[in-house]
Amino acid sequence: MKFTGFIFVLPLLYADVIVFTAKKQSYLQDWFINENTIVLKNQTLIQCAAECGALDGCMSISYKRTTQDCLGVNNGYLVQPLTLGYDSTGWSYYLVLDERCPEAIGYVFSKAFNSCYKVHLYNTTLVYSDYSQLCESEGGELMKIGSQEKQKHIVNHLGQLDISDWIFFQGMHLLSETPWRYNDGSVISYFNWHPTQPDPTAQKPLEYLCMKQFYQYQWHDCWGTMKGAFICEIYIK
Ligand SMILES: *[C@@H]1O[C@H](CO)[C@@H](O)[C@H](O)[C@H]1NC(C)=O
Ligand SMILES: *[C@@H]1O[C@H](CO)[C@@H](O)[C@H](O)[C@H]1NC(C)=O
Repeated sequence: MKFTGFIFVLPLLYADVIVFTAKKQSYLQDWFINENTIVLKNQTLIQCAAECGALDGCMSISYKRTTQDCLGVNNGYLVQPLTLGYDSTGWSYYLVLDERCPEAIGYVFSKAFNSCYKVHLYNTTLVYSDYSQLCESEGGELMKIGSQEKQKHIVNHLGQLDISDWIFFQGMHLLSETPWRYNDGSVISYFNWHPTQPDPTAQKPLEYLCMKQFYQYQWHDCWGTMKGAFICEIYIK
C-alpha cells in the first residue's frame, strides 16, 4: 500500500478521554480535496482535527495553515486523490486517528461505526479460514456490514483502494438451513445481494459473504475455495 510518508504527528485531547492523532499524509501535500468533504469552522489544526474526530461522517481533514481553512473528509486513507481534487498550494491532508485503533498496522477510525477497520489485500498464501484468524490476531474480527449506511461507507473506502479481487467480510451460510449467520451464530438481517444472488444453483455445503468492484460491490455467495481481500474490524468499547 502507498500509505507511507507520515511526517507530522500531533496528539490531541478530546473530551478528556479520547486521544486523536492528526497524521499528515505527505503524498497529498498541496492538494485540494473537492468531494466527500464537510465544511468546518476555520480554526487551528488541533481544533480542526478534534472537530472532525467528534463527527460521525468525518475520518480525515484537509487543512490550509495560512488561512486556517478546515475541511472534514468522509474517507479514511485517500490513495487515489486524482479522482477527488486538484493541485492547490498550501492544503495538507491529515488522517484523524483514534488512539484505540492500532494505526501502526493500518487501522483507521470510524466514529459512525464506533470501530477501527482495515482492508487486507489479496495474499495468495492465505485461505478463507485464515481471514478470521488474522483479524483476531489483530484484536478484531471480520467486518460485519449490518446496514446500508455501513455498506455505503465501506464502498467509498474500497473505491479509494481500487481492488479487483473478491472482498470477504463476515457472514456464512450452511446449505442445511435458511439463515445466513455471523461467526457467533446470530442471524444476519441486512443484505446487499447482487440480483443474481444468492445463487441457488451452485451451492456448497458452506458459503460465505463476499463482494467485488466489478459487481458494484453487491454481495455474492462465495465458497471457501475462493480467495481475495478481506476487511477486519475492531469494535471500540
Ligand atoms: C474560511 O476562510 C476562507 C478564506 O480563507 C473563507 O473563504 C471561508 O468562507 C471561511 N470558511 C468558514 C466556514 O468560515
Ligand atoms: C501473506 O501472508 C503470509 C502468512 O500470514 C505472510 O507471512 C506474508 O507476509 C503475507 N504477504 C504479504 C505480501 O502480505
